[in-house]
Amino acid sequence: MESLIKAVLEAGEHVKKGFSEVQDVQYKSAKDLVTRYDVETENILKKLIQPLYPEHTIVAEESSKGNEKPEKAIYIDPIDGTTNFVHSFPFTAISVGVYENDEAVAGVVYNPIMNELYSAEKGSGAWLNDEQISVSSNDDTKKSLVATGFPYSIVERECTNMLTMLGNILKSTRGIRRAGSAALDLCYTAKGVFDCYYEFNLRPWDVAGGICIVREAGGTVTGFDGVPHDITGNFIMASNGVIHGKMLDLIRCP
Ligand code: IPD
Ligand code: CA
Ligand code: CA
Repeated sequence: MESLIKAVLEAGEHVKKGFSEVQDVQYKSAKDLVTRYDVETENILKKLIQPLYPEHTIVAEESSKGNEKPEKAIYIDPIDGTTNFVHSFPFTAISVGVYENDEAVAGVVYNPIMNELYSAEKGSGAWLNDEQISVSSNDDTKKSLVATGFPYSIVERECTNMLTMLGNILKSTRGIRRAGSAALDLCYTAKGVFDCYYEFNLRPWDVAGGICIVREAGGTVTGFDGVPHDITGNFIMASNGVIHGKMLDLIRCP
């Protein structure tokens, strides 16, 4: 774990360097941006991490399809929150998740701009830098702060469902935040800032790092069906566990 953290910290230096530069943006689709820093940081991470986990297959955003589910996998998002990175909004992170037999066994999420290193290993708690973190204990949805994200591409029906979910949640909670990094949304749920986070149409590398961190912080991570989250699944809800059932009811669409 120490070596994995060291690798992520080293790659973070590259992200930090790029954050203050004006980026030449390429488009994977109309809203899905990529910069040379996404590709270069991914290459740095792959080079440093593969020797640490020789039996694991690396599934990384800029060089993999993401449909594969190897028995032992390292999911890498070199810059989660590329739009934020391009616009100098400092909510952006490297995310690395280690999976074995469909189980999240370790996660590291690092925001090098704000010097926040989140990490967790199964059975060893969740950490922000040197401090152990835990989910909130709030059991009242009316007092809950909820995070979400909006997919880059969305079909009409999904858009209708998304607006229904937003309406239900706005009426029943303290408010909604869309900060632009799924990995950090999970970490902010793990440290009790958000009581709940949900999103759909994400890819494994967006969430793999944060899932272990939420669970080790005492939280719950499922799909929208309430079943433990599947890394290739389309839907994710993470929460403090206490309000999980109530939040699932709020986002259930006809
Ligand atoms: C994105 C972020 C965002 C989420 C998007 C993701 P990227 O990742 O996690 O919060 O809403 O759907 O694709 O493209 O910046 O790595
Ligand atoms: Ca991402
Ligand atoms: Ca990314």
